[in-house]
Parts: sequence; C-alpha cells; structure tokens
Amino acid sequence: MQFNAKVTDICKQRSACAIIAVDGKNRLTLSGSALDKACDGVLAKLLKRGDLGVIAGSTLLVPLVEGSAERVLLVRTGNGSISPAEFRKLAIASAKAVKNCKDATSYLTEVSVKNSDAEWQAQQLALAAGLATYKFIHCLSDAKPNALAKFTVHSADKKQLKAVQKGTAFGGSQALGSNIARELGNLPGNICTPTYLADQAKVLAKKHTKLTTTVLGNKKMESMGMGAFMSVAKGSDEPAALIAMNYKGGKTGQKPIVLVGKGITFDTGGISLKPGAAMDEMKFDMCGAASVFGVMNALVEMEAPVNVVGIVAAAENMPSGRASKPGDIVTSMSGKTIEILNTDAEGRLVLCDALTYAGKFKPSVVIDIATLTGACVIALGNHATGLYANQDKLAADLIDAGETTGDRAWRMPLWDEYQPMLNSNFADMQNIGGREAGSVTAACFLARFTEDYTWAHLDIAGSAWNSGAAKGATGRPVPLLLQYILNKK
Ligand code: BES
Ligand code: MN
Ligand code: ZN
Repeated sequence: MQFNAKVTDICKQRSACAIIAVDGKNRLTLSGSALDKACDGVLAKLLKRGDLGVIAGSTLLVPLVEGSAERVLLVRTGNGSISPAEFRKLAIASAKAVKNCKDATSYLTEVSVKNSDAEWQAQQLALAAGLATYKFIHCLSDAKPNALAKFTVHSADKKQLKAVQKGTAFGGSQALGSNIARELGNLPGNICTPTYLADQAKVLAKKHTKLTTTVLGNKKMESMGMGAFMSVAKGSDEPAALIAMNYKGGKTGQKPIVLVGKGITFDTGGISLKPGAAMDEMKFDMCGAASVFGVMNALVEMEAPVNVVGIVAAAENMPSGRASKPGDIVTSMSGKTIEILNTDAEGRLVLCDALTYAGKFKPSVVIDIATLTGACVIALGNHATGLYANQDKLAADLIDAGETTGDRAWRMPLWDEYQPMLNSNFADMQNIGGREAGSVTAACFLARFTEDYTWAHLDIAGSAWNSGAAKGATGRPVPLLLQYILNKK
C-alpha cells in the first residue's frame, strides 16, 4: 500500500473517497464545508436528514460528488477539541469504512485534537488505514484482497506538510510491520515452522545489504550449551532455529537495541499436554517472534538510522518419546540449572538461552517479546501488554511509546520478594512458580538471565491475537516497538 501526504483541494481532487469529519452539531471542517458549498449544500441537507449516526465514530459513505472525489465518507466526531483516544477511534472507523475503495484521501487532520500535532494525527490515520486493509488470504482458494491501495493524508498548508509527511510515512511503516507480524502469526503451525521463520529471515537479508541473518540449528545450539532451549526443541521432529537478524542502519560502533521474540510455532504443552479446547490458538505462540520480524522489516523499509538486532527463538513444543518430562533437570547456556516441573512453561526455557545469547551483541538494551503466560491474560485482558523492566527509564520509555501509538503496555512488578517461588529442591531453579502471580514469576525467571544488561520483557499473551469471531493476530506490539526505537534514535 502507498501512503502520501499532500496539500489538496477537496473540490479538485479525484480520489475514490474523501474522508471528512462532522461534529456533533452537524458542522463540517474546512475542506468539508468547501466541498459542500461546491455541491450546492447537498452534504448539509443529508446531515439534516439524520442519516449519519450521532455516536462518535459513526460513518456514512455517500456516493455523490461530481467533479471531485467519487465518494465522501462522513465521520462523526465530538464537539470542540477531542481527545487523542477519540481521534484514534475516528481513524480506525474511517479506515474500516474505506478499505474497499481503491484509494482515499483523509481530511481528518482538520479535526482539533488535544495535546497532539499534525504529525501525530497523520501517523494515526496512516497506521489505521494500513491495518484496516490487512486480510489473511494465504490459504484461501479464491483470494480477494481489500481494494485500498493508496492512502493520502491532507495537509492544511505547506508549512505543515513536512510534519504530515513524516507522520504519514511512519504510520505507514508501523502498519506494514504490524501486517507482516499478523501474517506470520496467522499462518498455521504446519506451514509456519521454525525452518519457515529462518527462511523468512534469510530472504530479508538477501533483499537488504544493511541486514545480515545468521541461523543456528540444533547441533550448533547443543554445542553452545543451550540445554534449556534444546530441552524444548528435542521433543519435535521439526528442527529448531535460533535466528539473528542484524540491521546496521546507525553509526558503526553504536550499541544495538536487541529484540528477542518467543517463536514457539506450536505449543501443545509437551508432556504436560494442554487441554484440547482452543488449542489451535497455540499457533499464535510465535507472535513475539512475528513482532520481531515486523519490526525488522519496517526498519529496513524505512532505512531507519539505528542498529537493531532481532533474535528469534523458534521451536515447536511437542509430546514425544524424545520430549522432556516433568522433573527433568537441564543446564542453560548461562550455566544455571533448571528443573522442568511443567513442560508447558516452555517459553521461558527457549528465551533464557536466547537472552544469554543476546548478551553477545553488547546491547544498549534488550527487549524480549513473548506470549508467555495465560496468567497475564487473566491479569490484563487484551488491552494492555504486560511490561516488566529492570530499569525505570526503560519502562517509562516503553509505556510512553505505547501511549503515543495506542499500542499500550502496563508495568508489572519484578520484585525480589517473588523470586523464592522459583526455588527448587534439586536445581538452581524450577521453571514454574505455582498458581499465584504466574505472569510475574515467569518474568522473574527471565530476570535471572538478564542481570548483565538493561532489559524489558513484554508479555503479549493477551494483546497478540483476538479470539472468537474476529480470531486473528493483531500485530502488536510492533507499533510500540517501532515508536520506542525511533524515539530513542
Ligand atoms: N504459550 C503459553 C501461554 C499462553 C496461554 C498464552 C494461553 C496465551 C494463552 C505458555 O507457553 C504456557 O503454556 N504457559 C503456562 C505456564 C504455566 C505452565 C506455568 C500457562 O500460562 O498456563
Ligand atoms: Mn506452553
Ligand atoms: Zn507457549
């Protein structure tokens, strides 16, 4: 999809749809009024009839205007200056309503929004438009993608244009990254295997000179002492992969941000087998890895001036004659020993070795992203990603990036008081902490492997995908991560 920012004249433009705002008193913004005047007040008449819903975010597609856009999408807003959250709602509602037009121009930049600027508004509009066009068609015999191929954001004047351009381009890249994450997340476990993920990383490196990919296979990981990772990998016939995508867009010598994604391409639970209901959703257990792919793809596409390493710990968690059993004790790459009391707590086992491996890149910060615990879903539902960090500044920056994009995270405690829950009678630690505070003890487990650097953990078990009728990957937290990375630059 193509994203543009332009100073446009609504009466002269030729797009398939112009998106304009109407406030609670049926008042149009600047461009809307101009268009209404040019077409003899037909919009005002329509609005008087009451066809447009009164609730903010209601939309009405009007196929009318001669000599201008082919259609007009009227979008209801509130009165006066609206909040950023309300604006986001308009952006999403209007994007959904135009996804079947071949192109659209949005004049919602004319809406007044509290505590925000034109760049942010443009970013939100482009992000929403990009997300709305995504559709999973990879496995359909008769694929019909959504039509929207070009999205233009109107800028009030030349003075604002730079900011609107910047926001539009960034929002477009955030959407691109999110949609790549969604596609990988939605692919079934029989297609999206660890090898498939490794191949995606190799393809990305082939296309871009500033990105290199290395893939470690089972043998190599074994020889490096990754006993925790291998304890998960060995139960499956699918070979595991530890993938590293190294993007050097920044200054040489600048320490990289390292992202580490949990890439369990299917989580049966292993010998501690999961119940059958909704087990299909465990194909989404690689959404952390998918978000790393989304971010890396967006960074190379934007040619972002940053150094970022994207690591993916990819394996399939299966029960088999070769699988780990409850009570097994393994030695991680760090040298610490782990008693595996539940083979369904496999994410932390692959991640602890991947996090030790991350240290080799001399990171400025490390952020892991994982569909780690059902307990996090119980704690936060699907609105907030669970955030843990061993440094307050990093936590604040991530929360801030989430607020900006609407891809929000909420900080959880990583207190020492929780650590004894992981004590084992037989090894340095056990891999589960009991029924209470399940998301916290999982984070505490990871914290034992990240003491040498600044680190955050994002538990996306609730935010990475939707269940029910709208089942599908969300692409989160790609917008948050990209925002964080570019804020930091
Ligand atoms: N991938 C799951 C976590 C999960 C479950 C995410 C449901 C989203 C929805 C993870 O590997 C897992 O199974 N965790 C266990 C940990 C427990 C055994 C300590 C869990 O959350 O039940
Ligand atoms: Mn599991
Ligand atoms: Zn899992």
